[in-house]
Amino acid sequence: TDRYAVFGNPIGHSKSPLIHSLFAAACAQDMSYEALLAPLDGFAAALRAFAEGGGRGANVTVPFKEEAFRLADSLTPRAARAGAVNTLVLEDGHILGDNTDGAGLVQDLQVNQALPLAGKAILLLGAGGASRGALAPLLAAGPCRLHIANRTAAKAADLARDFADLGPVSGGGYGELAGQGFDVVINATSASLAGELPPLPPGIFNGGALAYDMMYGRGETPFLAFARLQGASRLVDGLGMLVEQAAEAFQLWRGVRPATTPVLDHLRQG
Ligand code: ATR
Repeated sequence: TDRYAVFGNPIGHSKSPLIHSLFAAACAQDMSYEALLAPLDGFAAALRAFAEGGGRGANVTVPFKEEAFRLADSLTPRAARAGAVNTLVLEDGHILGDNTDGAGLVQDLQVNQALPLAGKAILLLGAGGASRGALAPLLAAGPCRLHIANRTAAKAADLARDFADLGPVSGGGYGELAGQGFDVVINATSASLAGELPPLPPGIFNGGALAYDMMYGRGETPFLAFARLQGASRLVDGLGMLVEQAAEAFQLWRGVRPATTPVLDHLRQG
């Protein structure tokens, strides 16, 4: 039985063990997947112990994604771009770091939501780690423009500059959104966690627009409530992104791509 795990702090409510055990059963893979709590100052040691104990791969969640990025011996291009790692492949003492979060988001939008991003105007809210991880895959999908808005406007402008070679990306503060409309608005801020809402002007949703909150499992977030009142046509939480980033990791580890729809249905019913 090959061992896998997710590391985080806290980690108790992680859905990853359930998701990966459903994938493993569906794909007939002989593997285990557990949630491991690492001390805030003890991620590197916990990972080392896991690898020495036969661990073959791991997911990494808050607050260890940047540390995982630094610990990796080699990185996939998308992880190098993200500056953060959520998936590790452990092989003969070598640590490969990948980031499947952005691919999971794009897969959820384009496949599960059947919304091709090519030619669309995308607004990305937030300029922290979650946004950085999403940018390369979003730009690879070919939007006509991608604008990043952030409370600290300079961070959004810096982030846009870092990714300008990959596509039409710009950045600024919330105030300058007035009068601009978008087809897809993605909330990648941590504001929902605190029950807060970025200071968005009215009128940012084009006809037929989709509002996406990376947060999940907390009912309607303030952002999705705002989007509904503002006439967004579709409201989507981040559960699909969670399942899709897991499928991407599973494929990297096992070489097979699990079907995600049954797992998503299972989670939505539970
Ligand atoms: P994460 O890894 O989740 O992206 P982060 O790197 O700490 O976390 O980034 C948090 C993001 O949420 C930032 O863009 C932050 O805005 P600032 O850069 O201006 O701090 C944003 N954020 C957090 N709370 C917010 C709030 N109440 N309103 C608007 N934006 C908020």
